[in-house]
Amino acid sequence: MKALISGRAAPVLYKPCVPSTNSELKAMAKTGAGHGTVLYAGRQTAGRGRMGRRFESPEGGLYLSILWRPEVSPEDCLRLTPCAAVAVSRCIETFCGIEPEIKWPNDLQIKGKKICGILTEGSFEAGGQFLVVLGIGLNVNNAGFPPELEGSASSLRLETGREFPIDRLAAELIRALDEMYQSCFTEHSLWLEEYRRRCNTIGADINMLMGDVKRPAKVLAVEDDYSLLLDVDGKPERKAFGEISIR
Ligand code: BTN
Repeated sequence: MKALISGRAAPVLYKPCVPSTNSELKAMAKTGAGHGTVLYAGRQTAGRGRMGRRFESPEGGLYLSILWRPEVSPEDCLRLTPCAAVAVSRCIETFCGIEPEIKWPNDLQIKGKKICGILTEGSFEAGGQFLVVLGIGLNVNNAGFPPELEGSASSLRLETGREFPIDRLAAELIRALDEMYQSCFTEHSLWLEEYRRRCNTIGADINMLMGDVKRPAKVLAVEDDYSLLLDVDGKPERKAFGEISIR
């Protein structure tokens, strides 16, 4: 492990290869890892995505998890994931000069292709303390993807024609997440407004994906709790979680 950022209150730990930074950091939380601890890896052998999916994590990507021991309610913590999507987008825009869009709920896309996913896991410790581990997988210098992902995934390198120093990008990302955590509970309306501005799903014709079943809908708005307000066959419907594709 190597220290990535000096002078930060909580440690930033690096490992060249782990099964999953989220799983490893959750295990570290059980043995007392503190608020703000970051684990960052060069690659993952069992990277996990949302909905129990696998997250391809070869060398060239950035795989980072952060642990929070929030003082706010688990319900308020639901905003951490969308606010992190905003923070990561801002960071990419500043550091790489390209503006990703947020595809609801929290994928980052460039020209309709996914470059980043976020997996947030909450749990209660034995003493009742609520913990959040938020993991970010960002395709940075990947030069290609397996055939099944080729049409839907991309990387910062493929989109800009440039390679980026992953350590420096990780340090910027950690700074962006620290700043986000400081303000997303007290100044939430600003984060919500920026989420809406960056979200490519508002106004889109989508399919709601439920197993093999697709239900078409139009997205009218992102509500204050980040759920989607949909028009489904002329009737309003809300969708708080799950998977969609943009048509
Ligand atoms: C998704 O798109 O479904 C979410 C992907 C989240 C991947 C990141 S990589 C770092 C952290 N460790 C994991 O096992 N998953 C998250």
